Amino acid sequence: MTTFTEEARSPENREPDSDRLTMETPQTGVVTPPAPSAAEARTEAQATQLPPVPNLGLPTFRQDGDTKESRPPLTLREIRKDNRVRVYIAKGNEQMQAIGYTEHGHRHAGIVATIARSILIALHHEERTAELAAIAGYLHDIGCVINRKGHVEAGALISFTILSDLGMEPLEIAEVIGAVGNHEEPYGEPINPVAAAVIIADKSDVHHSRVQNTSPKDYDIHDRVNGSVRKSFLHVDPDIKQIRLALDIDTNIASVMEYFEIFITRMTLCRKAAERLGCSYRVSINGQDV
Ligand SMILES: [Fe+2]
Ligand SMILES: [Fe+2]
Repeated sequence: MTTFTEEARSPENREPDSDRLTMETPQTGVVTPPAPSAAEARTEAQATQLPPVPNLGLPTFRQDGDTKESRPPLTLREIRKDNRVRVYIAKGNEQMQAIGYTEHGHRHAGIVATIARSILIALHHEERTAELAAIAGYLHDIGCVINRKGHVEAGALISFTILSDLGMEPLEIAEVIGAVGNHEEPYGEPINPVAAAVIIADKSDVHHSRVQNTSPKDYDIHDRVNGSVRKSFLHVDPDIKQIRLALDIDTNIASVMEYFEIFITRMTLCRKAAERLGCSYRVSINGQDV
């Protein structure tokens, strides 16, 4: 069992070439027009020739967004160094603090990234899939730099721009932005293992250190519930296929009922996410399964 804490494509079937015309008839199947003569081909090539593009020393991209030069896959370590990632997450958290929300900055991003990666490693997913979960985990709340409301969609679009600029493969970008775009109830769905891991990791980060409100008398229910959690552990057991969130809470600060009041929809989403990973989901509070 692993425990995580807060620290923690034959020619017959080929698609038609985009530069060739094909005609389909009921008698003969697929018929291609006769090839142009060498002279016709030369004239056609000259007519479509474009002036040379000056080499500005910038990386070149194909229309599908892939870089021509091969490069090692992008890692979270590189993404964290990007100035946009550093600034937007920090400024997003400033917005959350200004409206009295719990911490959504680099601390939360780092914890969610680490836990999302660890969940998939513990459940024997491929390392690259786990790295994509870490990347999505780190970026999932970056949309808060615009507004809490709509931060899921905004975050997916901001992530798309940054990851495209950094040269990530489109298939990987799709995994990441799909996870960012599905991390929050009520519209989030654990569409794949990456999204499922990010959902569970995000909802596991309930802890007193997330409270940013410096005036306890102004605490809302979210502050009280987060403020009551002294310890938070996520146990992943691949043998019995169970993911369990174990919380130690101070019931003098928030009652178990208050925890349920704001966490019931989150726990429902976590249960669906765990099912996507082939696991059950349990929560225990002060040693008691709930
Ligand atoms: Fe969020
Ligand atoms: Fe979050």
